[in-house]
Amino acid sequence: MRCTVFGTGYLGATHAAGMAELGHEVIGVDIDPGKVAKLASGDIPFYEPGLRKVLNDNLSAGRLRFTTDYEEAADFADVHFLGVGTPQKKGDYGADLRHVHAVIDSLVPRLRRPAVIVGKSTVPVGTAADLSKRARDLAPEGVDVEVAWNPEFLREGFAVHDTLHPDRIVVGVQENSLRSEAAVRELYAPLLADGVPFLVTDLQTAELVKVSANAFLATKISFINAISEVCEAAGADVTLLADALGYDPRIGRRFLNAGLGFGGGCLPKDIRAFMARAGELGANHALTFLREVDSINMRRRTAMVELTTRACGGSLLGANIAVLGAAFKPESDDVRDSPALNVAGMLQLNGATVNVYDPKAMENSQRVFPTLNYSTSVVEACERANAVLVLTEWQEFLDLDPDALAGTVRAKVVVDGRNCLDVQRWRQAGWQVHALGRAAATV
Ligand SMILES: NC(=O)c1ccc[n+]([C@@H]2O[C@H](COP(=O)([O-])OP(=O)(O)OC[C@H]3O[C@@H](n4cnc5c(N)ncnc54)[C@H](O)[C@@H]3O)[C@@H](O)[C@H]2O)c1
Repeated sequence: MRCTVFGTGYLGATHAAGMAELGHEVIGVDIDPGKVAKLASGDIPFYEPGLRKVLNDNLSAGRLRFTTDYEEAADFADVHFLGVGTPQKKGDYGADLRHVHAVIDSLVPRLRRPAVIVGKSTVPVGTAADLSKRARDLAPEGVDVEVAWNPEFLREGFAVHDTLHPDRIVVGVQENSLRSEAAVRELYAPLLADGVPFLVTDLQTAELVKVSANAFLATKISFINAISEVCEAAGADVTLLADALGYDPRIGRRFLNAGLGFGGGCLPKDIRAFMARAGELGANHALTFLREVDSINMRRRTAMVELTTRACGGSLLGANIAVLGAAFKPESDDVRDSPALNVAGMLQLNGATVNVYDPKAMENSQRVFPTLNYSTSVVEACERANAVLVLTEWQEFLDLDPDALAGTVRAKVVVDGRNCLDVQRWRQAGWQVHALGRAAATV
């Protein structure tokens, strides 16, 4: 089959390559000519393990290309995926839908045959129904345009795997839809043949599945982080507690890692937009707990700064701090709302000299926080450091040899913001280990 994907960011570029990998002919469309040129030449404008190969395999096979030309895309296919960004509005909790609207407004008047627009972006409930009406109004005479919603659950760092082996496929279709379900079934046929659960819903339910999933994950993280605050106050160890909780199959161990909390381009803005939308719908009280989830999460960042201050003997003035990790999570170069970078910025504001190192996110970090110092290796970042902070749990940092690093730093003080280090090992090498929620681990 043929399809297009509008928006070739983390979601769209992966989806376009994934659809081509499933055997379809695909055009990826973006308004950013630099991004399009990069992708067309087989290069990825961001870091995503495994994507380069899938991209290049399919470019070479002639199944995949990229363009900024809406006319070409409108003419090419009858199914158009929509994967543009839906950031938080400036000064407001709601989602900014201007990019989503721009795609509909530019694409629909150019359609000459019946088409299905399949939304993948994360949007407030009710958006798809509005877009469906917007598309009907803009469609040329005699051209029937359906809107369906197929939320995306991929995780950065595992995006290729998640695209080719999703946990489930959810498709919301509009009332009286004639073509959407069949079109999506045909596009995902190889996945359905693998037994991937396929759920067809109304538009609203599909939109809500995505934001509910994110709200649940955010809540689970903030739950353990709230418990972590109590652990600190009571002198308990949150990591042992989480292990013990995790053996209960009703709870499960995943997403119970206490630490610096969540960030990135999705969870924070999605729970805020969800709260805002519930309020607009009159379900004012339903999601007030998400405000607490958000606030517990943001508190982690200041807690980390306070812990570092204590680790440095009560003041950050003149302290030399190595920050290991800048991406919001490992295996990604995404620094949108990154807790690590946020902490690095706050440390600097408190008078510390901050040297940041991240295996993949240096370029993006420099763009967002140009005033921090950036190092090209762990050792360079740690030179004469009064404290070493691990703020993103990259494997490279988990594998660090505390004995080898000891000669580089000024003081053997490590602050584990992700509860990811082997505390015993670091202590045996003579390091003072500080960690969020682990009073017992703090010397
Ligand atoms: N990143 C993820 O892991 C992920 C996972 C699931 C869902 N989502 C959702 O997917 C959507 C996209 O997220 P992302 O992380 O890929 O964002 P992104 O910022 O990386 O990519 C968005 C892309 O859309 C392009 N764009 C903007 N306006 C356009 C237009 N009018 N026509 C064509 N292209 C246009 C931008 O140039 C950019 O390349 C968001 O709604 C997000 O919440 C993201």
